[in-house]
Formats: sequence, C-alpha cells, structure tokens
Amino acid sequence: MNFNIRKVCCIGAGFVGGPTMAVIADNCEDINVTVVDINKQKILDWNNSDLKQLPVYEPGLEEIIQRRRNKNLFFSSNVEQEISEADMIFISVNTPTKTKGVGAGKALDLKWIEASARQVAKYAKGRTIVVEKSTLPVKTAESIKKILEAASFDDEQKHFYVISNPEFLAEGTAISDLQKPDRILIGGENKEAVDKLGDIYLRWIEKDKIIKTNLWSSELSKLTANAFLAQRISSINSISALCEATGADINEVSLAIGMDKRIGSKFLNAGPGFGGSCFQKDILNLVYLCNFYNLKEVADYWKKVIDINSWQKERISKIVVEKLFGTLTNKKIGILGFSFKANTNDSRESPAIKICKNLLEEGAKLLIFDPKVNSKQIKKDLINENENDQNIQICNSIYETSKGVDAIIIITEWVEFKDIDWSLMKENMRSPSWVFDTRDIIDEKLIKSNGINVWKLGSY
Ligand code: NAD
Ligand code: UGA
Repeated sequence: MNFNIRKVCCIGAGFVGGPTMAVIADNCEDINVTVVDINKQKILDWNNSDLKQLPVYEPGLEEIIQRRRNKNLFFSSNVEQEISEADMIFISVNTPTKTKGVGAGKALDLKWIEASARQVAKYAKGRTIVVEKSTLPVKTAESIKKILEAASFDDEQKHFYVISNPEFLAEGTAISDLQKPDRILIGGENKEAVDKLGDIYLRWIEKDKIIKTNLWSSELSKLTANAFLAQRISSINSISALCEATGADINEVSLAIGMDKRIGSKFLNAGPGFGGSCFQKDILNLVYLCNFYNLKEVADYWKKVIDINSWQKERISKIVVEKLFGTLTNKKIGILGFSFKANTNDSRESPAIKICKNLLEEGAKLLIFDPKVNSKQIKKDLINENENDQNIQICNSIYETSKGVDAIIIITEWVEFKDIDWSLMKENMRSPSWVFDTRDIIDEKLIKSNGINVWKLGSY
C-alpha cells in the first residue's frame, strides 16, 4: 500500500473524536485532521473563538485547540467532502444501548455506525483505511466490511481496509491518557493498513506500547477492559456496605488489598456507583453477546456487576431518607457535584441522576451545584421537558447549596469540595444537620466539630 497518510477524517466530534483528533493533530503537524459531525451546533461550538464554549471540557484541551485549530485541525459539517478527501477515516460515533426492538436495553445500537459506514461507502475515493474507534460488539467489523465491499463491487476504484483501534481514554484525564497511553491496540487483517495507523502513533508513543492483534481480539479487548474496570468498582462498593455493617473501614481495606501487587492500588475507591456513558452500556452489551453465544453463566456473572452498581445508588438514597427521620417531604437537600466524576462536564449515567431522582420522589427540594455541568443539562437529566422544576434549584456556589437544607450530599469528588468552610455552611443549615460523603472527600472530625452529623460511605 504505497501511499502516505496526508488527510485524516474523523466522523463524530464528541468526547472521543474531538480530544483524540486534537492530540493526533498536535503530534503530526504534517497531517491534516478534520473532525466532522452531523450535529451542526457541535461543530460551531468546536470552532468557537471563546474556548470556554468548546463542547467538551478536558484539562489541557483548550491549549491544544488554540495551537492547532485552523492550522492542521479542522471541525466541519461538510461530511461528504471531508470523507471524499481522506486517506484514513476514524469512525467515532456514539454507540448507546438500544432502546427498542431486538436486544432493547442490552445490545448496542449500531445505527450510527451503519450510517457512518454507508457515508464512507458512498463518498470515499480510491484507497481508504477505515478505523473503528467507537466501542463495538465483537464482529462488528464484519458488517462494516460488507457495506464497504458492496461499494467496491459497484465502483472498482474504491478500496477499503477496515481496522479496529479502540479508545481507552478516561474523561477528565483524556489529554494525558492520549498523550501517554498505557497501550495502543490495533486489530486488523491487512498488515499494511495496521502499520500505517501504527506509524501515526509512533510519532509520540513508544513502539512496545503498540499492540497489533486480529480484529476480533481488538474489538473484544475493549469491552473486556471496561468490564474488568467496572467489576473492580462493584467489588469495592459491595465491600463498602459490609464495612458499614461491621466497623471495618473501606479506605483501610482498599489500602491493605491494593498493596498486593497482584491486585494493585488503582480503581479501588468506593463511591456512589460508576457512571459515565460507557461502563454500563458496554457490560450490558457483553451480557447480550454472551447470551447470544449461549454462554448464560458468563452473561449472569457480568450482569451482577451492574446489579451491584444499581444497588449502591439505591442504598445511598435509602440511608439519606433513614437518617432524616424516614421522610423528605418539604425538606431541602444540597447536592454537591452532578458530573459522573471530577474534571468533566459530562453527566451521562452519573450516579447523581438516580440519587437525585430518588430524593425528589421522596418529596425533597434539591439545591444542586456542579462546577462544570450546566443548569440546562442538570434539569434535562432530572425531569421531562414540560415537567415542573420547582423542586430543583441550580446553585452558583457551594455555599448556596446550604441555605435552609437538612443535609448536604457529596456525589462528585471535585477538588473544591475538599476545603469548604463548614462553619459557614452550618450557619445556613437546619438542625440537626447532616453531611453524606459518598466520595471520602471531607475531613470528618472538622465537620463534626461544627456540630454537623456525618455519614461516610464505607465507614461505621
Ligand atoms: P458522543 O456522543 O460524545 O459523540 C459522538 C458524535 O458522533 C456525536 O456528536 C454525534 O452527533 C456524531 N455522529 C453520530 N452519527 C454520525 C454520523 N453519521 N455522521 C457524523 N457524525 C455523527 O460519543 P463519545 O463519548 O465520543 O463516544 C464515541 C464512541 O467512543 C462510543 O462508542 C463510546 O463507547 C466510545 N468511547 C467513549 C469514551 C468516553 O470517555 N466518552 C472513551 C472510550 C471509548
Ligand atoms: C472509562 C475507562 O476508565 C476508560 O478506560 C474507557 O476508555 C472509558 O470508560 C470508555 O470506554 O468510555 P470513564 O468512564 O471516562 O472511563 O471514567 P473512569 O475514570 O473509568 O470512571 C468511571 C466511573 O467509575 C466514574 O463514575 C468514577 O467516579 C467511578 N470510579 C472510578 C469509582 O467509583 N471508583 C474508582 O476507583 C474509579
């Protein structure tokens, strides 16, 4: 395959497409990278001169956009033209759980993948390497190939090489994860196509971190990695409940087990349950695939990871109700943090959504503050469009969330929640006042010294 990659196009300007292409453009100044999206507003936002309006908040992203935008990094709505000019096309579109039809609630909805493959089939010219960047069920490349092969049959000038290159970045640390990944995984049958992509990454990533596998191993490794990560969280969260019942402390247990090199210390923080757009949908998909291949025991095993995660959120809501004398009717509760983790404006599947909905259901009025998730998004996550929002107040500061409340619940581990002046908070709160810390972020003694009751996840 004797051609150089000069133009790269990425379909999907979302949380993955935007930052990933920005980092490629930053490391490969001789390659023109264009990110396209059917959502025109998103493209306008990516092109906004006010960098605070970018559709994705990630530490370090604004600087790269400022450096590379309109030099060798472009954001465009002209999907047709960009596809037709590209030597390599990344497909980085959303793959949420299906909401209806066969596999509803479990299988991934691949309609955006199929639409992207059809766009590529129609507009691409000459030889094109097509890279699956989205997280996909194992064997999806087969469907993409079928669509592309049909186009090659109709037009002999078109040649496609499909490879898989799943993304392992985590939100909040996307830029550093992309700049210094643990590994790059590329799966494919055509060695030259795999090497072409490998050569791009080699510009800034060590050779021994680039793993080359067959297509199916690559697709399945991504689902497996997410399942293992989520499993660790459900495992530690299950033990957090046992700690609360017995007098053990979850932080001490995490430390003790994490020092065993075979277990390792990362990803052992107990919390309100994992959120984010991917863990749940990817495990549900794994479960669906196992059932599809008649592996019921394997499916049931992974399903439990999700069950424990749902249980953890319910458990926290119940404890709040219990401590507040069994009723929340006409009580105000402050919510600190709405994003699914710190350092992101993403609230998809955030545990805050389920916990807040449960509290609203119990009759509470919520005063919510998050440093990055905007008020429109919070309301959209909690109520239907025409529903009354009188029980939801979005606050502009941490202190505003304490006005007249019986309790504050810390749901996201934003660093600004570490040094709150609790004497100021207490002045505003109704007595007896409570702080529920689901992220081990506060100094328990300090809060108690201000006359506030404390409940900490995973401690007695
Ligand atoms: P996203 O929803 O933020 O972005 C996807 C974008 O694709 C949207 O802007 C949508 O408008 C666009 N799109 C859909 N169909 C299109 C089409 N036919 N043509 C042009 N644009 C189209 O999703 P995301 O979070 O970036 O995730 C993308 C994929 O990456 C998913 O498969 C996800 O599982 C995977 N992933 C996500 C993360 C993460 O942290 N968010 C990390 C690793 C992998
Ligand atoms: C996760 C994976 O970490 C990425 O490798 C993967 O690429 C990505 O999913 C994906 O496929 O979308 P992300 O969801 O962005 O990344 O963030 P994580 O840091 O994994 O956190 C996920 C959730 O688990 C958050 O709600 C977080 O608060 C929670 N978590 C994480 C814990 O409760 N405890 C921990 O110890 C770690």
